[in-house]
Amino acid sequence: MPVEVKIVPDNAALNRAAAQEFARLADSAIAERGRFSVALSGGNTPRAVYALLAEQYQNALPWDRIHIFFGDERNVRPDHPDSNYRMANDALLSKVAIPGRNIHRIQAELGPEAAVKDYQLQLQAFFHLTDDWPRFDLIFLGLGDDGHTASLFPDTQALEESSLTVVANWVEKLQSFRITVTYPVLNHAAEVLFLVSGAAKAGILKNVVQPPGANKFPSQRVHPENGRLFWLVDQDAARLLRFANPRGV
Ligand code: 6PG
Repeated sequence: MPVEVKIVPDNAALNRAAAQEFARLADSAIAERGRFSVALSGGNTPRAVYALLAEQYQNALPWDRIHIFFGDERNVRPDHPDSNYRMANDALLSKVAIPGRNIHRIQAELGPEAAVKDYQLQLQAFFHLTDDWPRFDLIFLGLGDDGHTASLFPDTQALEESSLTVVANWVEKLQSFRITVTYPVLNHAAEVLFLVSGAAKAGILKNVVQPPGANKFPSQRVHPENGRLFWLVDQDAARLLRFANPRGV
């Protein structure tokens, strides 16, 4: 299956393009259904995107119609420096007029089991689920050096989960649980947007997106069944990619 890769000149261009895509999808979802559901990714790459959204879209988007979820969370309190929620809150959520009820946090401070149950219930309530999967309008994802995404790490149990929306995933190399949504949630999204920046990611990005169709790394198993998979990468991260045609792979 062809993989859609958009290469932009640098990190600043990546942040602009990601913020524009967020706004485009938000406008469209709100026009069609009155609300926009997005799952944010953690780590470092998206921080500047969230800051740009706060800076340039503070008054340009109807934040009271936007619902923020998280693709994963570390096993820490929300005020911990490692918290994905804290990163998003510092960069974006505390700077826009988004109602607290629109922020659907993974409450990792409850402990892995309770946090999973709570987040499952949040998804069920928001998406009015009975026996279907949540369908996010947009899911941001990052790419780890080992090919992980969200908290779907190589050689972990969560990779095989096919019936639950959320699990507590023991990550041996981190000696910690991570709370993460599972592949069925990712693969039911309307759009999954990977953000990859910097020369350090060039090797893993090449291994993951070329050749298309491989399944060696966790991030290669993200294929929205009825949605768009879109890699937004800067030139430093893309320097090892080879294209049969200049448009993509
Ligand atoms: C997390 C993320 C994780 C991240 C990748 C890339 O909780 O850390 O969900 O999947 O997106 O590790 O992280 P960087 O953007 O910091 O390289």
